[in-house]
Amino acid sequence: MWPLLRALLFLLPAETAHGLGMWWLEIISAWRRRFAQAPRRPTWSRMPDSIEAFGLRFQNRIGLAAGFDKGDVVPEALFGLGFGFVEIGTVTPRPQAGNPRPRLFRISEHHALINRMGFNNPGADAVAKKLARVRHRAGPIWLNIGKNKDTPNDDAASDYVATLQTLYAYADAFVVNISSPNTPGLRDLQSEDKLGPLLQATIAEGKTCAARLGIAPRPVLLKLSPDLADDALPGVAKIAEQVGLSGLIATNTTLARPVEHPVCKEQGGFSGAPLRTRATDVLQRLHAATKLPLVGVGGIETRVDVAEKLAAGASLVEVYTGFIYGGPGTVKRLI
Ligand SMILES: Cc1cc2nc3c(=O)[nH]c(=O)nc-3n(C[C@H](O)[C@H](O)[C@H](O)COP(=O)(O)O)c2cc1C
Repeated sequence: MWPLLRALLFLLPAETAHGLGMWWLEIISAWRRRFAQAPRRPTWSRMPDSIEAFGLRFQNRIGLAAGFDKGDVVPEALFGLGFGFVEIGTVTPRPQAGNPRPRLFRISEHHALINRMGFNNPGADAVAKKLARVRHRAGPIWLNIGKNKDTPNDDAASDYVATLQTLYAYADAFVVNISSPNTPGLRDLQSEDKLGPLLQATIAEGKTCAARLGIAPRPVLLKLSPDLADDALPGVAKIAEQVGLSGLIATNTTLARPVEHPVCKEQGGFSGAPLRTRATDVLQRLHAATKLPLVGVGGIETRVDVAEKLAAGASLVEVYTGFIYGGPGTVKRLI
């Protein structure tokens, strides 16, 4: 069915098709919230030996990358598709409309996307309310946090801290996103002088929230850009270790254009199959530089691609663009 459905969906503008998919997933999630008696996931998506990473247990290593569920909060339906974990976000403290449309473009020949969404999301309070309604969790829910566009970089830490505070009770792990190319200046926060204080403030706030709630501190990870220079990666890994970060995610979308195509003139971050080589290269370099656990994302479409990321040092992997092209059967194929 999927090739036919995909052909129909791809007749629509990319964001409209995404909206239709989300609408369907919202219906399934609402149904399960109302009627399911226990967390539900397909039997094939449970690995015989459950996996432990970041102090959390996973039924399999395949997660949904940030940006697909930007705050609609449909984990029940996503776990139903087999994902081992789901990363929601990026969420900012205040709601944000994002960039004007069109802002999402397909390059179907290369199984790639370009997006300049710009952190469109309903804001931390609204996401917290939606997460509070989730009754059954069939796996860990991660939250990817960012800053509002109009918050100056000098005040960025206060945005990350505020979002963490609001959402701390509802997520199993947090991902600090400073690597999206679509918020002007955001990637400057990856520079060594800004990164340490930002992460320190976020981790300290996490500990305060955990103490207040009487729970163990949640893992905090950092998501990196594939456009960081190779020689900057060991420095970033060292800061991550020094501040007590739990792990690193490599990578976000790239500003590079690894293929030639008329759509490549669009501004935004490039994702999908042609990003795979660079994303795996960054992962490998981080693996050589640190003992911190790593999550590999970027260009995964097949089981071979998953194996490549695991061999390069990833404990877990995530997929986004491969899911758009591969459809609902993606996780089963990857497992
Ligand atoms: C439309 C779209 C929106 C995205 N939004 C976010 C986001 O809000 N936060 C984030 O950290 N990454 C975001 N990403 C990046 C993905 O999480 C992932 O890191 C990247 O796309 C590479 O993986 P892929 O090749 O499997 O898509 C987005 C990607 C796409 C395609």
